[in-house]
Amino acid sequence: MIKSFNKIKGVQGSLKLPGDKSISHRSVMFASLANGKSEIYNCLDSEDLQRTINAFKQMGCKIETTNEKIIVEGKGIDGLEKPNDELYMGNSGTTTRLISGILAAQKFATKLTGDPSLSNRPMQRVIDPLTLMGAQITSNNGLLPMEINPAENFRSINYALPIASAQIKSCVLLAGLFLDEETCVIEKKESRNHTEKMLNLRIEEENGIRKIYSSKKNFPRPAKYIVPSDISTAAFFIILTLLSKNSELKLPNISLNISRIGIISILKKMGADIEFENVEIMNGEKRGDIIVKSSELKNVEIPAEIIPNIIDEIPILSIAGIFAEGDFVVRNAKELRHKESDRIKSVCENLKLVGLNINEFEDGFQISGNLNQSKVTFESYDDHRIAMAFSVLSVLMDQGGTINNFECVAISNPNFEKQLEAIIKF
Ligand code: S3P
Repeated sequence: MIKSFNKIKGVQGSLKLPGDKSISHRSVMFASLANGKSEIYNCLDSEDLQRTINAFKQMGCKIETTNEKIIVEGKGIDGLEKPNDELYMGNSGTTTRLISGILAAQKFATKLTGDPSLSNRPMQRVIDPLTLMGAQITSNNGLLPMEINPAENFRSINYALPIASAQIKSCVLLAGLFLDEETCVIEKKESRNHTEKMLNLRIEEENGIRKIYSSKKNFPRPAKYIVPSDISTAAFFIILTLLSKNSELKLPNISLNISRIGIISILKKMGADIEFENVEIMNGEKRGDIIVKSSELKNVEIPAEIIPNIIDEIPILSIAGIFAEGDFVVRNAKELRHKESDRIKSVCENLKLVGLNINEFEDGFQISGNLNQSKVTFESYDDHRIAMAFSVLSVLMDQGGTINNFECVAISNPNFEKQLEAIIKF
């Protein structure tokens, strides 16, 4: 689907956003593992979440969705059933990598498949530690399709993460939930910490190195999950408000987890007027309202250690960077090449279309020059965050802009366009 956007005058009002994608995936997974009935409120309803829900339904869990909540009848530590068919992961890297840890501990074999984008994303990063735990995995040279067969001797490991990745970390820790002896993941750079927070895992921290432990003792129990709204989704609206004239927006009940709000600290350093209100902690997760107002921004240095914390927000941050004073530079972000698209290439190619000078590096890019305001068609590269980032750029450009294959926004936020329409100032 091709979507055209016209320039808007600004934004105003209050916007309720859908549940956080990372927390929603984990809530469905943990509820499906727990022995009994759990309820999930404000769970994200998107294509990626549907992959997680379907996978657990295929393994015997009863999952019912009502307007208000999701009710999950979990199967307990040895209750998951062999699915009749392969598990189709669609576009969802989080489902694939996290569920691999759970599947490696089962007594039955499963086959995971995905769409063309997911089938090109690296899975060796989870195959390696799971193989050390005794799992028997075959794959297409480290890519999907992947077959996970029962381990002969499933065992705990100590694993130092070679890449700062919450998906790898969670995969290993979830596998560890099925073992008496503790499994330990060692993390040098902190990635998002929802798995350890939600499962209340033991953490030792020394000289900036974190050791996170999981075992059977942490196996999830039936619970009531109240998912906060997604800061990564909020980032599109925050940056749109900052860059629009005379605009102010309230985003209630957003996840303010410390491992996710790097985007706010960078924007504040850039001069953004952003405040938090009604901050509270629920289910171990910090949440609160975000109030954002139009601001004049200037580009700042983005420190290497914050990259894992802002990895999903870099495409939209680069849009802020175009309008900010000075050049926008991001480095140390090679992981962007392994997301739903090669996000370094996707951002650079789209920005070249509007006449900006782009210097592409293996691990990032630099933007300089002036925006050419004539109307262009951006490519989404079938990547939801690229489609949304360039929709924001489109509504800020004098002649508007068009997005090819816009429908991929449904991966994380099917109602993106409606949300945008709801806050436009006339
Ligand atoms: C996620 C982790 C991130 C992020 C993804 C969701 C998660 O990936 O890009 O959208 O829920 O664990 P990595 O931390 O593995 O890079």
